[in-house]
Amino acid sequence: MERLPVAVIGAGLIGRMHIDRALKHADVKLVGIADPTPEGKEVAVAAGIPWFSDYAEMIEVSKPRGAVVATPNVTHARIAVDCLERGVPVIVEKPIAETLEEAQRICAASARTGLPVLVGHHRRYNPITRRAKEFITSGRIGVPVTATVLSTWLKPDDYFSVTWRRERGGGPILINLIHDIDLLRFLFGEIESVQAMVSSGIRGFAVEDTSAVICRFRNGALGAISVSDTAAAPWNWDLAAGEADRFPQQDVNSHYLSGTLGSLTLPRLEVWEYRGGRGWHDPLTSERTALHRGCPYIEQWRHFRALIEGREAAVCSAQDGRRTLEATLAVPAAAASGNAVLMEH
Ligand SMILES: NC(=O)c1ccc[n+]([C@@H]2O[C@H](COP(=O)([O-])OP(=O)(O)OC[C@H]3O[C@@H](n4cnc5c(N)ncnc54)[C@H](O)[C@@H]3O)[C@@H](O)[C@H]2O)c1
Repeated sequence: MERLPVAVIGAGLIGRMHIDRALKHADVKLVGIADPTPEGKEVAVAAGIPWFSDYAEMIEVSKPRGAVVATPNVTHARIAVDCLERGVPVIVEKPIAETLEEAQRICAASARTGLPVLVGHHRRYNPITRRAKEFITSGRIGVPVTATVLSTWLKPDDYFSVTWRRERGGGPILINLIHDIDLLRFLFGEIESVQAMVSSGIRGFAVEDTSAVICRFRNGALGAISVSDTAAAPWNWDLAAGEADRFPQQDVNSHYLSGTLGSLTLPRLEVWEYRGGRGWHDPLTSERTALHRGCPYIEQWRHFRALIEGREAAVCSAQDGRRTLEATLAVPAAAASGNAVLMEH
């Protein structure tokens, strides 16, 4: 099977990850890297891949059959729509866009052109997430009851030397919590409403450093998420799941999902259930699935190709990414108003 020609637009932190994974991939062949900066050019030269300052020229010359848009959020809608209109399906990094209107423009362009879009919620490709989904859809934990999520860690002081990270929209809600919201939507289904409080009490920047979120799922389950980037704590997916080498892995759980028949922890994949009498006086049994680690970004490239070739349905479509964005944007809105925000979808 010939490898599918693909391109990466934006060779920053996550763009370099996509480049690295594409270079090692049996399914895709990297034919172009677009990034106007000297650093971007250096990345392309080091990888031995043709470099372009302008992604439109790259599409013209290198003719990729798919591209990753790994540029700043504010540019996602413009670049993604432009790629689609030039006949190129895209993986748009998360968040799909900065606003719901922009997200809708991407959804509309995908529908108009008939070309697929993936949103880069990479956790959906992790074997841990996939096994968790199997446990839940098979009925092993029964009817979902609660999701308790910890998303607490400490970003170093120098992280905040970049101005936009101290301003509204540059904080843990849109950068990190959005992944947890997407993971919960993937595992527990649609979110119906969101309530929240935010605080910037520790760092005192305009952006939040901490937030407490409550959500109601359409199936009646309730979720509670604690998020903070100023807490000296290991309990968050990035440290616990070991997805990226830049985070030292910790052997802890960050997600606790309970149902009427059993409960499940992530990422350690412990299932707790009754095998005799069922009640709080009876013994619970726990069983742990030990998985081999798998790189979600590698799996995402494989799936992107299968999606482009019509062999698989999108794991995270533009509409899916838009719904995750809607629930995430509801957090600051709910905190500001003090009221529950209902999802319109
Ligand atoms: N899925 C994940 O795990 C993950 C992790 C980090 C970031 N992200 C997302 O990826 C995106 C990029 O984040 P980052 O941390 O890599 O940012 P970054 O600032 O490190 O990189 C962005 C790159 O895009 C380039 N760029 C800007 N405008 C461009 C244009 N018009 N054409 C081509 N290149 C252009 C910049 O020069 C820069 O190199 C954001 O949307 C972010 O939310 C996702």
